[in-house]
Amino acid sequence: MKLFIPGPTYVREEVLMQMTKPLIGHRTKDASVLQKNITENMKQVFMTENMVLCSTSSGCGLMEGAIRSCTSSKAAVFSIGSFGNKWHKIGISNGLDVDLYKVELGETIDANFVDEVLKKNDYDFVAITHNETSTGVVTPIEEIAEVMKKYGNIVWAVDAVSSAGGMKIETDELGIDILITSTQKCLALPPGMAFCTFSEKAIERAKTVENRGNYFDLLSLYNDILKRDYQYPNTPNISLMYAAEYQLNHMVNEEGLEDRFNRHREMAEYVRNWALENFALFPKDVKYASDTVTCVLNNKNLDIGNLNRELAKRGMTISNGYGDLKDKTFRIAHMGDLTMDDIKELLENIDEIRGGL
Ligand SMILES: Cc1ncc(COP(=O)(O)O)c(C=O)c1O
Repeated sequence: MKLFIPGPTYVREEVLMQMTKPLIGHRTKDASVLQKNITENMKQVFMTENMVLCSTSSGCGLMEGAIRSCTSSKAAVFSIGSFGNKWHKIGISNGLDVDLYKVELGETIDANFVDEVLKKNDYDFVAITHNETSTGVVTPIEEIAEVMKKYGNIVWAVDAVSSAGGMKIETDELGIDILITSTQKCLALPPGMAFCTFSEKAIERAKTVENRGNYFDLLSLYNDILKRDYQYPNTPNISLMYAAEYQLNHMVNEEGLEDRFNRHREMAEYVRNWALENFALFPKDVKYASDTVTCVLNNKNLDIGNLNRELAKRGMTISNGYGDLKDKTFRIAHMGDLTMDDIKELLENIDEIRGGL
């Protein structure tokens, strides 16, 4: 089954095969080398000189780690959909003082709005979603970065779970302190691990936070990397690390990151044009439509369940709308290792099925 859902995404056979390698001990020299190779290539994906932390969990683990480890007084979450709302919930359930600012679904966050909010409040942690998978909308992080530069005391964390590795995000250039992603999206790996950057500012902040929890304490992950030569406090998913080492080498040294970002953009443009010809886009402004997932407004009342059943017979699957957007929208992912040929084949099949429904 070819997955055109926004995670987990299609994983190439040769990447999956890496996971069948015999295991090694996680306290061996080979484990350090494995981890270091992953870190060095992830630094390129994230475009950072800062340390990259690796967690055997999905992305939400590091979202929890970020807000809990680096909020010492009060946090703000700017949400453009379900995953931003989730970050707020994570903060609240950790007993933190967190305010939520959200927009109507389909819209993005305006940088001036962020500035207005930060001017009037005294936050020391800000969380923003880069690519909202539920609505297919991106936030203008370049513009928001200009605002964030004015607030030197704030640790800025960005959820790039469904965009890093598929869209260019210049972490250091933008001044992002913690950029988070998961393996099962644009990195085209199986689910089960997550990565984040960790800036000097974030490190210094975490040192001042008393209750950082344990498993997702970012400072403890960071300290262990220094103390134990790229090893971690707990037993990591070694099999997935083999696959990550292999896949990241392919992304950085074989395909090349610029080509990878271009491929994502070209696939996105193709799907957007198809959506505009046949339906409409859910994002209010095409300028903020995602390059990794297109959220299509189902203005033709197409039976998405039926469509997916027919697609499954042809070995493909797409996603229904997320949460309240179920059946009102549907989503086509064009992320990871999918190609333009895959996308064309999918859309031709959808057209054919629609013709017969
Ligand atoms: C934008 C975004 N943030 C966060 C998450 C949660 O990530 P994970 O499932 O890896 O915990 C997802 C998952 O789909 C997502 O799309």
